Amino acid sequence: MEMTIRPRRLRTCDSLRRMVRETRVSPESLIYPLFLIEGENIKEPIPSLDGQWRYSPDRVCEEIEACLKAGVSRVLLFGIPAHKDACGSSAWDPNGVVQQGIRAIKAKYPDFYVITDVCMCEYTDHGHCGILHDHAVDNDKTLEVLAKTALSHVQAGADMVAPSDMMDGRVAAIREILDENGFETVPIMSYSAKYASAFYGPFRDAAGSAPAFGDRKGYQMDPHNRKEAMKECALDVEEGADILMVKPALSYLDIIRECSDAFDLPMAAYSVSGEYAMIKAAGAAGLIDEYRVMCESALSIYRAGADILITYFAKELAQAMRKGDLG
Ligand code: PBG
Repeated sequence: MEMTIRPRRLRTCDSLRRMVRETRVSPESLIYPLFLIEGENIKEPIPSLDGQWRYSPDRVCEEIEACLKAGVSRVLLFGIPAHKDACGSSAWDPNGVVQQGIRAIKAKYPDFYVITDVCMCEYTDHGHCGILHDHAVDNDKTLEVLAKTALSHVQAGADMVAPSDMMDGRVAAIREILDENGFETVPIMSYSAKYASAFYGPFRDAAGSAPAFGDRKGYQMDPHNRKEAMKECALDVEEGADILMVKPALSYLDIIRECSDAFDLPMAAYSVSGEYAMIKAAGAAGLIDEYRVMCESALSIYRAGADILITYFAKELAQAMRKGDLG
């Protein structure tokens, strides 16, 4: 049979298959989301996220050590405050839970890269991502509190801030306050295309941030939309974002591809709590090979164009990358 082009030739052995891989990944691209809870001597499992824990600031370094051991040296911090009110004032408290956590990490591990999620939903008693006015989030009033919060994180020692609220103009507002205070070198990773997704369910349980009424569709994006993601990314670029993000990841691979092709900023993707919980649950039920599905899912996100992956599997993925099972 005459057949000169045989794609299988490049699949004949493992050594060759690894040599011709098109997607190369490294643990340097991984960010691990970490939950800080106010209090002392707390390390408690998160029921909705099997294998994840909430730490009080005095114990957070236990997790940082585990990250370093696994080959992960970047975290994204979330705070669960003791006190919530209508305007989320604990968010910018210089002694708030995230601020304490940052200081604890930086005191022991000054080179560990600390990014903070900037949002109001964990801090407001109504669970929405901003200041309410007649049951809707007031965009421009919220910008002030987001900016104050971002500044307080950076003053506590955060290396980067990541606004996840989806208010219009928040990147510009944060850039302005950071610059005014001499932090012009601190980058902003913007949750640019963040969809109103059901995949955040386990996170809201973990962070106690479910909205008390209604939903987030008035500020997070409609999953039906593609062009709108481009508009959001373009605005963030104009406002001075340094890194763009698409969230969630697995159901939005098309958006990751399109945005990473269109913009020259580094592209992050957040593989969210529901994505993690589904793989864990199906693995525990014996329906899938958890390890292989974890690797294949992460790979698909990188193949779609993500440069950076935020994932609850960061430690396991770093190990898989080291072993060569991925990348
Ligand atoms: C805060 C925030 C959320 C997530 C990241 N930042 C929750 C939400 O928007 O409801 C979700 C992360 C996850 O599901 O893993 N606004």
